[in-house]
Amino acid sequence: MYKIELGKSGLQVPAVVVGCMRISDKTEKEVSAFINTALENGANFFDHADIYGGGKSESVFGKAIAPSMREKIIIQTKCGIVPGKMFDFSYEHIINSVNGSLERLGTDYIDVLLLHRPDALMEPEEVARAFDELKAAGKVRHFGVSNQNPYQMQLLQNSLDMPLCVNQLQFGIMHAPMIQSGINVNMYNESGVNRDGGVLDYCRLNKITIQPWSPMQYGFFKGCFIDNEKFPELNAKMDEIAEKYGVSKTTIAFAWILRHPAKMQPVTGTTNLGRLADCIKATEVKLTREEWYEIYKAAGNILP
Ligand SMILES: NC(=O)c1ccc[n+]([C@@H]2O[C@H](COP(=O)([O-])OP(=O)(O)OC[C@H]3O[C@@H](n4cnc5c(N)ncnc54)[C@H](OP(=O)(O)O)[C@@H]3O)[C@@H](O)[C@H]2O)c1
Repeated sequence: MYKIELGKSGLQVPAVVVGCMRISDKTEKEVSAFINTALENGANFFDHADIYGGGKSESVFGKAIAPSMREKIIIQTKCGIVPGKMFDFSYEHIINSVNGSLERLGTDYIDVLLLHRPDALMEPEEVARAFDELKAAGKVRHFGVSNQNPYQMQLLQNSLDMPLCVNQLQFGIMHAPMIQSGINVNMYNESGVNRDGGVLDYCRLNKITIQPWSPMQYGFFKGCFIDNEKFPELNAKMDEIAEKYGVSKTTIAFAWILRHPAKMQPVTGTTNLGRLADCIKATEVKLTREEWYEIYKAAGNILP
């Protein structure tokens, strides 16, 4: 597993993040096996949120981690969503959420804290006060955001003393608006619509790591595109390339993300141990430029 620097944090992290959103209904034993599979394959960076499984993902993970393992793993969690109600970047919400996560995870520090989804009522100075306090108390070491556009990030960054290291955004073969708009600049077609304010280039220019979430999904949690009869051309192309490298299509889906020079750090979602290993294996596969574009086109995209 090769490593990348997380934004400008100085922290060296594995190229693939292990997502924990779907582990909430697993037993402690199953989660231990999940964590061990990740670690055996070189992936020691785990992504959480206070709301995953209503807090159960963090709790079961916390129970499965022995205290002696804490220094060997990197834990990222998120706050700022009050499910079904609102988004909340207030000082009180951020502090209370982090204290709750620390308790559930059974740790005294979080390596990386992300603000989960933009709060329309965000006051940057208030967020800065919360971040400063959490950092000074040793409760959070690094900070980032999720689902934000460049101006939102810049507005917040302007009030912060520490760099935003991460922006976690949905991205994958079947959800690639940030690539499509770049390829279709100034065109009248649907793919040319810029939906994110140029976040990919902004993050590259400012050395902020993009963490693609739901990399195997099409639409917003509509399902996995692998072996899905809705996408015959894509699956045929991925079969062909997977055979060439002697890997699975799951590996190719992650290799497609890793091939982009932005050094994105995709987040796995599977709880299947074989598929988890397959996702991580993508760090050993480097697709050619031609293969990358063939997959892009097989996903239904056209080149202008
Ligand atoms: N920041 C945000 O707003 C945000 C939003 C959503 C998620 N996230 C993060 O991103 C992580 C990944 O999201 P996700 O769970 O939606 O990811 P995903 O990898 O796109 O989807 C995983 C789901 O697809 C299924 N699947 C079926 N076939 C698969 C295959 N061949 N390979 C891999 N998965 C297959 C998995 O089932 P099996 O378990 O049976 O393999 C699982 O239910 C989450 O755990 C979370 O940490 C962040």
